[in-house]
Amino acid sequence: MKTVRTVTDLRAALAPARRAERSVGLVPTMGALHDGHLSLIRHARADCDVVVVSIFVNPKQFGAGEDLAGYPRDEKRDRALAESEGADLLFVPAVQEIYPTGFDTTVTVGELTEVLCGAPERRGAEHFAGVTTIVTKLFNIVQPHAAYFGQKDAQQGLVIRKLVRDLEIPVRVEICPTVREPDGLAMSSRNAYLDPDERARALALSRALDAGEARVAAGERSAGAVLAAARAELDAAGLEAEYLELRSAEDLSCAERVNGSTLLAVAARVGPARLIDNTILGGT
Ligand code: PAJ
Repeated sequence: MKTVRTVTDLRAALAPARRAERSVGLVPTMGALHDGHLSLIRHARADCDVVVVSIFVNPKQFGAGEDLAGYPRDEKRDRALAESEGADLLFVPAVQEIYPTGFDTTVTVGELTEVLCGAPERRGAEHFAGVTTIVTKLFNIVQPHAAYFGQKDAQQGLVIRKLVRDLEIPVRVEICPTVREPDGLAMSSRNAYLDPDERARALALSRALDAGEARVAAGERSAGAVLAAARAELDAAGLEAEYLELRSAEDLSCAERVNGSTLLAVAARVGPARLIDNTILGGT
C-alpha cells in the first residue's frame, strides 16, 4: 500500500489504473479507524479493482465548540489497519493541500441538512456544508467509480446521495450497515472519549433503538408510542436526547407513523462525547 499526500501524487498513482480502465473505490474517513471503517474498506475491496482510503480530519465540518483539536489521530496505526484490509492507496493530505490560502468555495445541500444533526441549535447546516465541500473535493481528486459510507451516519449518507444526484457527479454511492460492538454500541471514533461509566451509559442509545424496533415488531405504528419506548431507555441511563426522532428514511420528512422505511434516529451527549445512532424501521 502506498501513502500519498498531494493531489498530484494521488493522480499520478492512479493514472495506470485509470488507463487500464480498472474500477476505483474510495473510502473517505477522518482516521482513528475502527471496524466500522474497516467494513467499508472490505466492501470496496470486494467491489473494486483499486481501493483508495482517505484520511483527513476536515476542519470545515467541526463547529467552534467541537473536538477538532482533540480528535484522535494515529496515522501509523491507521496505515497498518488499512493495509491489512487490502487498501491500495492511502491519501493523507495536509490541511493546506486541501484548503490552500485563498480557498473560498462551499458546496451546500438544502433542506436535508437543516434537520436532525443540522438543526440550528445543534451542529447546524454548516456542518454538512463542510462535509459536502470535502466530499465533492475528494470525488474530484480521486474520481472514483464508487464511494463507501456508513449507515451509522444516516443523514450524512442521504445528503451525499442528494449531492451526487443534484450535481450529476459520476460516482456510485454505497451505504454499508452499521458495525456494532458485541453489546450493541455503534462503533465510533468518539467512543474513545468515554470512561467506563460513560461507556456503560452509552449503551442506552442502541437499547433505545432496540426498544423502538420491539414495539414495531409487536405491531405498534404510532410515532408517539415508538418514541416513548425508546425514550424510556435513555431516561433509565440518565441520558437526555439531543434528538430522538422518527423520519422518512428517504427524505427525512417527519413521520407520524412507522410507515414503509422509517428512520429512528438518536443523538445524545454522554460525558464528553456526542454520540449518534439510528435504525430503519420497516413496518408498513
Ligand atoms: P468518519 O467519522 O471517520 O467516518 C468515515 C465513514 O465511516 C463514514 O461513512 C461513516 O458513516 C462510517 N462509519 C463510522 N462508524 C461506522 C460504523 N460503526 N459502522 C459503519 N460505518 C461507520 O464521516 C466522516 O468521517 C466524515 O464526515 C467524512 C465522510 C470522511 C467527510 O469528512
